[in-house]
Amino acid sequence: MDQVQQLRPHVLIFPFPAQGHVNSMLKLAELLCLAGINITFLVSNNIHNRLLRHTNVVSRFRKYPGFHLDHYPDAYDESKVHIAQEITDLCTALQSVVKPFLKELLSKDPAHGTRKDRPPFSCIIVDGFLSLALDVAEEIGLPLICFRTISAGAFWTYFCIPRLVEAGELPFPGDEMNLPIENVKGMEGFLRRCDLPSFFRVGDLTNPDFNLLLKEALQTPRAKGLILNTFEDLEGCILSHFRTHCPNLYTIGPLHAHLRARLQLREANSNNSNSNSLWEEDKSCIKWLDNQPPKSVLYVSFGSISIITRETLLEFWHGIVNSGVRFLWVIRPNSVNVGLGDDVLDSTKSKSTPEVELEEATKERGCMVGWAPQEDVLAHPAIGGFLTHSGWNSTLESIAEGVPMICWPCFADQQPNSRFVGEVWKIGLDMKDTCDRVIVEKMVRDLMVERKDEFLHRADEMAKLARKSIEEGGSSFCNLVRLIDDIVKG
Ligand code: UDX
Repeated sequence: MDQVQQLRPHVLIFPFPAQGHVNSMLKLAELLCLAGINITFLVSNNIHNRLLRHTNVVSRFRKYPGFHLDHYPDAYDESKVHIAQEITDLCTALQSVVKPFLKELLSKDPAHGTRKDRPPFSCIIVDGFLSLALDVAEEIGLPLICFRTISAGAFWTYFCIPRLVEAGELPFPGDEMNLPIENVKGMEGFLRRCDLPSFFRVGDLTNPDFNLLLKEALQTPRAKGLILNTFEDLEGCILSHFRTHCPNLYTIGPLHAHLRARLQLREANSNNSNSNSLWEEDKSCIKWLDNQPPKSVLYVSFGSISIITRETLLEFWHGIVNSGVRFLWVIRPNSVNVGLGDDVLDSTKSKSTPEVELEEATKERGCMVGWAPQEDVLAHPAIGGFLTHSGWNSTLESIAEGVPMICWPCFADQQPNSRFVGEVWKIGLDMKDTCDRVIVEKMVRDLMVERKDEFLHRADEMAKLARKSIEEGGSSFCNLVRLIDDIVKG
């Protein structure tokens, strides 16, 4: 590292160890590297190994002399992140392993040891479970900025939970999930019980996940600022309420498109892959897409954490095949809970007649892969719709490419995201809490055939607003400049 680089600020970026979090925070890291800021990107040993195995992170970041990938010892079996219910255990493990590691890393005098070529840390950007890093940062006297990888709408509901409890709207008595929620400002009139994040759809306030997630979220105002991967034209009405709790908001999304735009400015014709996938991408699906008509293919993926049952998979499969629409489907390894140890897609096992028919129809007009280069898939002209679990990265990637969605949220922030897609932005259909082949077929036909032009038109308008936000002078562009200035000023 040269002397000029030595004088620049040094930021520690610390994501929660899961795909959606690592992905968006690496994009932020690269945007800051482009501004000359030194970055130490801290991940678990497991994520570190997977990034080395499946991505070109090391060679890609070589052009930034200030970037350094660091890792802490594994705190727990990360495959358990699959199961939302494990969240409390995971957090406890993170507290016990990562907190001491962080303390040592941050208090180490950079003039000694292995870090002598790097300037001292000037700021921490931390994701999700804040309090462990906040305690350390406050003790050491380092400024800390929080980054939430979820939508402003979803995160805002966390802040309103105490009000819901006070007003008697939580916990829910009984199973009436479609009743309206009145006490989330900015969402009156469209938010229902079933649209609250899964952790808050509880009948019992002693639920440990409920309490943990709420406690962590309510720490956010202790941070110096809050970065959100969203843009003002998308969530402005919620952001104005948010600013009453967290006045220093940096809305800089959609991050993946923002980074792509900045890289293209710097390296004209830059088409290099900037994948952060923790699984091997099967690029053969792009060749398959090249042979499909424009806007004809439904892309199906339920993200990086969700597990579905074999029954659910079959309902989707019947519904999609019966719709007659072409499809590209990602079925992540180990993402189907097959119960008896049989793999629904294993061609060596004997099949019932309907399943054989489904496989034939899949060969005719479908393609299935274990993990796709999703950003490239969504940008492909053959894609006309996305059946998604409504993870926030997937939602933003779809919005940025003008691809309408069918939303089947699984857990966490996905429930409010899908309500916004269906009811507020009207760029898709919300299929929450139901999975029946007849409904799947109808929704696929509505999105891809009957109401195709209407959805494509609105999605296209939203994509234009996303592009505007990251152009010079746009809201996300200006907020990133402000974030960089604030980091530099210290
Ligand atoms: C979950 C949450 O729902 C999300 O909102 C939160 O911020 C992180 O945890 P996840 O299941 O990972 O997220 O979904 P999502 O946020 O959509 O992220 C998945 C990422 O994996 C996306 O960036 C997507 O492009 C990528 N992906 C997915 C691939 O690259 N290939 C695939 O085949 C599937």
